[in-house]
Amino acid sequence: MDLGFLFLDQSWSLMQLRSLLCASFAFLLLATTLVVVAVDNSTYYVPRDDILLNCGASGQASSFDGRSWTGDTGTRYAPSLNAGGFDALRLDPSVSTVPYSTARVFTSPFTYRFPLSAGRKFIRLHFYPSDYSNHAASDAFFSVTSGPYTLLHNFSAYLTADALNFAYLIREYSVNVSTGGLNLTFTPSTTHPNSYAFINGIEIVSIPDLFSSATPLLVDGDDGHIVYTIDPDQALETVYRLNVVGKQLPP
Ligand SMILES: *[C@@H]1O[C@H](CO)[C@@H](O)[C@H](O)[C@H]1NC(C)=O
Repeated sequence: MDLGFLFLDQSWSLMQLRSLLCASFAFLLLATTLVVVAVDNSTYYVPRDDILLNCGASGQASSFDGRSWTGDTGTRYAPSLNAGGFDALRLDPSVSTVPYSTARVFTSPFTYRFPLSAGRKFIRLHFYPSDYSNHAASDAFFSVTSGPYTLLHNFSAYLTADALNFAYLIREYSVNVSTGGLNLTFTPSTTHPNSYAFINGIEIVSIPDLFSSATPLLVDGDDGHIVYTIDPDQALETVYRLNVVGKQLPP
């Protein structure tokens, strides 16, 4: 099942939401399911876990949006990474230096281990397909798994970015963490010669559990609204975002 997340950045009445949804229904048929979440401007959610890992780098650095990223060299999430990051051979001028100018490259399976509080998290994976030292961009085919979930399989950032005409890629997931935190494993494909896995940036951020039965969502359909819950063991991938109000929303 695909889910489009639609975050509204003002308080909307149910009537407003209904008419908005009716007006846009034909367009929204593109999505299998639509989840509408009204977010009140006056209250800000403070994430308990908020990790920004700048892979292949050391120390602190800020991205263009002012957020501070920590290099994964010597990180407690992967203590064996004490050196060996790669620089992108050439950075497209449209691409933010942090986290895209450096990468971690894996020629065998590698796992980051994040001890986290329980609850839902965003996982955002950042990829800038480039040659990294003697690793050609087109040779990277790999999987990314988190516990029982396969987030990416036989993934080529090079082919995907080329097909979409994007310079870099962000893949975003919502995964519920129970106890013991979250593992992220990068596994190069064994069927492609010279294959390797790589990653430029990892974000893991707590999000409010909007999906559990304790806080059910109202989903509008043809027959009025229904209560919709998503089980904790269901992981989601963001398919698209639609910024209804049009105001700039920071990362
Ligand atoms: C991986 O993807 C490539 C490119 O789409 C394809 O040619 C290849 O057959 C796939 N390999 C596997 C094992 O699925």
